[in-house]
Amino acid sequence: MGVSGGIAAYKIPELVRLLVKERAAVKTLMTETSTRFCTRDAIAALSGDSVYTGIFEPLFLEEGHTELARWPDIFVIAPATANTIAKLALGVADNILTTTFLASGVPKLIVPSMNTQMYDAEALQKNLNDLRARGAAVLPPDVGDLACKTYGAGRMPDPAVLLEAIFRAAGPRPLEGKRVVVSAGATVEPLDDVRVLTNRSSGKMGVAIARAAYRRGADVSLILGRSSVCPLPPVDIVHADSIDSFRRAYARLAPKSDYFVAAAAVGDFIPAKSVRGKIKRTNGRLTLEFKSSPDLLAEISRAKKQGQKILGFALESSLDEKAARRKLQEKHLDAVFLNRASAMGADLNAGIGLSAGGRRRVFKQMPKERLAAEFWTWVEALN
Ligand SMILES: Cc1cc2nc3c(=O)[nH]c(=O)nc-3n(C[C@H](O)[C@H](O)[C@H](O)COP(=O)(O)O)c2cc1C
Repeated sequence: MGVSGGIAAYKIPELVRLLVKERAAVKTLMTETSTRFCTRDAIAALSGDSVYTGIFEPLFLEEGHTELARWPDIFVIAPATANTIAKLALGVADNILTTTFLASGVPKLIVPSMNTQMYDAEALQKNLNDLRARGAAVLPPDVGDLACKTYGAGRMPDPAVLLEAIFRAAGPRPLEGKRVVVSAGATVEPLDDVRVLTNRSSGKMGVAIARAAYRRGADVSLILGRSSVCPLPPVDIVHADSIDSFRRAYARLAPKSDYFVAAAAVGDFIPAKSVRGKIKRTNGRLTLEFKSSPDLLAEISRAKKQGQKILGFALESSLDEKAARRKLQEKHLDAVFLNRASAMGADLNAGIGLSAGGRRRVFKQMPKERLAAEFWTWVEALN
């Protein structure tokens, strides 16, 4: 992490905490100005690793600045001030951050953060273009309220968003250039103007799959129904609720995808007739009639293009492989991931992957985020 002296430096300890939680090792280089916005001690305590602020620090002298330049998988400059960006573009090496940057050949991610006029300035944009031309990735700032009490482009994205961009920039990116559409969450079918029929899906597994695809370099769209998790902005999100709105989103997005992963829990039943107003409370029984819902996955599978992969989820009370294989064959899917209904809403999941080509892989119980990464490793190797 290279931290320069923008006000957004106050968000860096949180970013370091998130990186460490993902088992990343983080060494930090701070410009002198940045230490006015964020303390060295906060970062050192959260990273549990070295934080350097000056060229002649004993630790830095011991490790050597070129040693440190080679050490990371990715060099992130966040926040990157207009001043530091100008120095990096010119090749100035007057502090620990700029010196190490110049000596470093590893992938770089620059996160500009500043007042809108500074960001729009021709000089700044030229410097960013020069850095891009030399292979650095630049994460564009958000539009929002700025510390200078104005509103515009220049805000540093939140640490959780930065975290995703860092993993994507660090690579590897086996899904680079691929368009991935993932559906997640539960459908919500109105019973009347007040009540709904939905299910226990939390969307956690599908959101984790979308996020893992983003980290692996894909362009990701997420069709998201009712969900208890908040997905991240780098992923394009299409909100859906009823089965019909899912159907429209599937029909619009599936043809544009290289991989379509149907992880949403689309309801199997819809009310036979829609009721306007509120069904009145009765003292006795109430009977509602349902009909089968359309099979959205079979519909997109019928329109499958050459080279496109359609992957489904099979949710069963127990790991019933026969039922999953039937789903795989009847709907002409490329693979299904069989998992238990008890995983709905949980943070952990386990299951069995079955492919049309006859491959079978058992995924033992693990956090859904890790399972999502392993799912992609398995899917990428299918042909
Ligand atoms: C309160 C305050 C906030 C600042 N915020 C930013 C900022 O967000 N982005 C920026 O480019 N410069 C900002 N600056 C200006 C930089 O601190 C200044 O250009 C400094 O020379 C940057 O040094 P460095 O790039 O070595 O860290 C701010 C200055 C002050 C006093």
